[in-house]
Amino acid sequence: MIDLDALGTQALGKIAAATDLDALEALRVEFLGKQGSISGLMKTLGAMSPEERQTQGVAIQALRSSVTDALAEGKAKLEAAALERKLAAETIDLSLPAPEAPLGSVHPVSQVMDELAEIFADLGFAVASGPEIEDDWHNFTALNMPESHPARAMHDTFYLPDLTAEGREMVLRTHTSPVQIRAMLAAGGNQPLRIIAPGRVYRSDSDATHTPMFHQIEGLVIGKDIHLGHLKWTLETLLKAFFEREDILLRLRPSYFPFTEPSVEVDTGYSWQDGRRVVGGSGDAEGHSWMELLGSGMVNAHVLRAGGYDPAEWQGFAFGVGVDRLAMLKYGMNDLRAFFDGDARWLSHYGFSALDVPTLSGGVGVNA
Ligand code: PHE
Repeated sequence: MIDLDALGTQALGKIAAATDLDALEALRVEFLGKQGSISGLMKTLGAMSPEERQTQGVAIQALRSSVTDALAEGKAKLEAAALERKLAAETIDLSLPAPEAPLGSVHPVSQVMDELAEIFADLGFAVASGPEIEDDWHNFTALNMPESHPARAMHDTFYLPDLTAEGREMVLRTHTSPVQIRAMLAAGGNQPLRIIAPGRVYRSDSDATHTPMFHQIEGLVIGKDIHLGHLKWTLETLLKAFFEREDILLRLRPSYFPFTEPSVEVDTGYSWQDGRRVVGGSGDAEGHSWMELLGSGMVNAHVLRAGGYDPAEWQGFAFGVGVDRLAMLKYGMNDLRAFFDGDARWLSHYGFSALDVPTLSGGVGVNA
């Protein structure tokens, strides 16, 4: 007959002496595991007479539950001690400076796009858009550049290998002007229009002032009595608000675009100050250089017709501005290619805080 008291004393003693959770687990297996000594005793219950079970059985049950309780208690104690040790070892010094989180910035092109959209919103223009992969009808034909028209060679066009389902050639749009056509067709040919269309355009070209992808904002105004004077005023107002100064120098040169007649190329005067281009200055334009900013003109009658407008009734003006050029002029960058290198150092130097809305202080002086 096994001495249950002795077994109990020995088990509780060992449990109390265990110094880590592994040792405790080993003891649980030793006493209560499948092959454990107390488990072994439990198995003898079945063979006992009812009287024996009354005494021995109850004693074995009591031994089992006291060992079970002791194991649980020991486990809780050891876990609490382990937590205490961990807390003591891993103190957090709240006075340490926090690690610096890198902060993104707004690309100058995005900033300038936002500024331009604000200015044109003040002038009552809505924003329109079109696809960057365009068919050659919208990009060329509807803009009065039929197939084999020599003006198509003015653009170094990226052609896509496949035709559309209707057999049209697909291109990466070479300018934002196809949005003129889309906006006119969407308007149904019977209402005035005042839109800008900002976006990416593509030409096979690369040097310090040309990149194969760049940004334009197209402008289109259609009405019954729109004339060249409105175009000039709009561009003057735009440049004054954008450069935030009144003494803008503008030069309008006769030019040629198939989609405008007459066509006007617009330059702005700047001078070098401390190694930076500074736009504007005294009115005589002496000592100034000129930078070409945009193409514009009165919408060609063929283009109005392609857009569903009757040129006998409607007329309008259009322009296309290089956004990247404007950004270089306003914020003093010299190499356009750096715009698209994705160099984080360049971006943190020339970028804008995402928390600032466009910085235009003066807004548009519409009464000027
Ligand atoms: N689409 C022309 C270009 O990219 C610019 C332009 C737009 C000229 C609208 C006249 C009218 O060069």
